[in-house]
Amino acid sequence: MADSAPSSIAIETVSGAALAPFLGDLARLRITVFRAFPYLYEGEEGYERRYLETYVKTPHAAVILARADEGKGGAKDGRIIGAATCLPLAAETDNVQAPFRARGLDPARFFYFGESVLLAEYRGRGIGVAFFAAREAHARRVSKADFATFCAVQRPPDHPARPAGYVPLDTFWRHRGFVPRPDLTCTMRWRDLGATEESAHRLGFWMKSLTGAQLP
Ligand SMILES: CC(C)(COP(=O)(O)OP(=O)(O)OC[C@H]1O[C@@H](n2cnc3c(N)ncnc32)[C@H](O)[C@@H]1OP(=O)(O)O)[C@@H](O)C(=O)NCCC(=O)NCCS
Repeated sequence: MADSAPSSIAIETVSGAALAPFLGDLARLRITVFRAFPYLYEGEEGYERRYLETYVKTPHAAVILARADEGKGGAKDGRIIGAATCLPLAAETDNVQAPFRARGLDPARFFYFGESVLLAEYRGRGIGVAFFAAREAHARRVSKADFATFCAVQRPPDHPARPAGYVPLDTFWRHRGFVPRPDLTCTMRWRDLGATEESAHRLGFWMKSLTGAQLP
């Protein structure tokens, strides 16, 4: 399905087996984008492909693809320059569902937005906004979820790898209608750039009503 997009960029919501041909490109895109602060993620393509298989196999999951017209026949068939993922929270791993269950929140009421990744040279022209719009539209289309939620890594303000002039995405997320939920955090493990071992990273959740239902 085609969604609204800035000119020369095609935004498309893709689900199920139709995603399979894109897993390699998506794996490499995630590794490229998540190397940067604040994720500092030393990605591995095999792991990434297995992770992305979840989106092929999970009912009602979707990946929003952003493709660029690079003069080879139009944006629709162009290179993947960004992507955003979503699936029902109830289909996520235990570590992501656990904070909700611990607070008595039924995961069935939430649609989970996994990540948005966009090559740096394509930022600031509305593609991230289109990713949220497409995921919210998808969640409304395939589920009765009252809320959208996602989580973001929390790094200390004085982290040594924080680039000068780094602008956190908090304002961008607030402008999309999300509010932070300091009471909801989860832990994910990955290997930071330059590290030899995986370590635990804390991520904080954000939430938005999709139906007008009051946030819990
Ligand atoms: C998150 C990310 C995808 C955002 O992408 P982006 O395309 O730069 O974001 P946008 O251009 O849509 O929005 C940025 C601002 O530009 C504005 N904007 C600029 N041109 C626009 C246009 N043509 N149409 C709509 N909005 C536009 C947006 O409104 C927004 O401002 P606002 O928050 O004040 O409303 C990108 O920063 C990224 O990949 N970051 C690294 C990975 C990451 O940290 N992901 C999030 C956690 S998984």
